[in-house]
Amino acid sequence: MIDLKTSYMGIELKNPVIIGASNLVTNLETLKQLEIAGAAAIVYKSLFEEQIQLEELEFDEELTTYNERHAEMLSLFPEMKHAGPKEHLMKLKQAKEILTIPLIASLNCVNEDTWVDYVEKIQDSGVDGLELNFYAVPKDLSIEGQSIENEQIAVLKKIKNKIKIPYSVKLSPFYSNPLNVISKMDQLGVGAFVLFNKLFQPDINVDSKEMIFPYNLSHPDENRLALRFSGLLYDQVKASICGGTGIYSGTDAVKMILAGADTVQIVSALYKNKVEYVATVLKDIESYMNTNNYNKLDDFRGLLSKKSTKDPYAYKRAQYVDILMKSDHIFNKYSPR
Ligand SMILES: Cc1cc2nc3c(=O)[nH]c(=O)nc-3n(C[C@H](O)[C@H](O)[C@H](O)COP(=O)(O)O)c2cc1C
Repeated sequence: MIDLKTSYMGIELKNPVIIGASNLVTNLETLKQLEIAGAAAIVYKSLFEEQIQLEELEFDEELTTYNERHAEMLSLFPEMKHAGPKEHLMKLKQAKEILTIPLIASLNCVNEDTWVDYVEKIQDSGVDGLELNFYAVPKDLSIEGQSIENEQIAVLKKIKNKIKIPYSVKLSPFYSNPLNVISKMDQLGVGAFVLFNKLFQPDINVDSKEMIFPYNLSHPDENRLALRFSGLLYDQVKASICGGTGIYSGTDAVKMILAGADTVQIVSALYKNKVEYVATVLKDIESYMNTNNYNKLDDFRGLLSKKSTKDPYAYKRAQYVDILMKSDHIFNKYSPR
């Protein structure tokens, strides 16, 4: 009997397939369909502090315009202000009510105090866990990488004293040494690491000479970065590892587990194949386990991690040099002499 159960930041999941944060999960009907298709847990779309700030600004502007025209409004409703994160919290509660699988909220803030404030509000909404979305794209040449890391560590230290539910960090791969950052965060008690945040980049329309912001879904081979870091982190940190970006099939999930991940997150594959596709991914994982006589995920988890692999060069730079030295056949394939 095949058992797909896994533990993720202390939460027991019935299988390793988590639905990552996206607009898909903001629809209650879709949430239920994802649960029926077999998803083990769902990460709700992030609450972004910047979005709340923007909405508050727009609200104040609208109010000012209105008050100028209708002065009596000001005296009648002097305290009228934007509801802040209340709407998002209400949606989290609604999602939690209809799901039987764990619901994980996601949060991205700018200010240290808001991180703490929103963490407390989110955990009061009754969700099972929280993903801290450390999405940061530095734009200033004078900011030292170390200061960004220090800020994130400071946020975690503050949150640590307030948070009572399991929490993970979804982080960018763009640190000088992501492993060191992860290790420091691990020592602070982070329950899981989500590898990695997909940072969206603007494009340029050469005809209109404008910046455009296409929403690019991942490609299947984009999971290699998470695969490599899952392999490097297996058995090196206390936290669980979740591999994401470019997980398109049961085989991709199996690869991530072989490298050492505890779970995977899926988004783009569902946009492309519809939510029912979760069932296909799960069926493929089971089929792989059947063929290989594995009864549980721990039978093959980490088999190809840095710690366990028999190939001493698999995770080393030497392997990269080796590929370049032997790359003639690749060039010949594309431009045969
Ligand atoms: C439409 C859309 C909305 C997203 N919104 C969020 C979000 O609110 N928070 C977040 O952390 N990631 C968000 N993501 C990123 C996904 O969670 C995921 O990290 C990314 O799509 C890579 O995984 P994939 O290759 O399975 O798509 C979003 C992705 C998409 C496509």
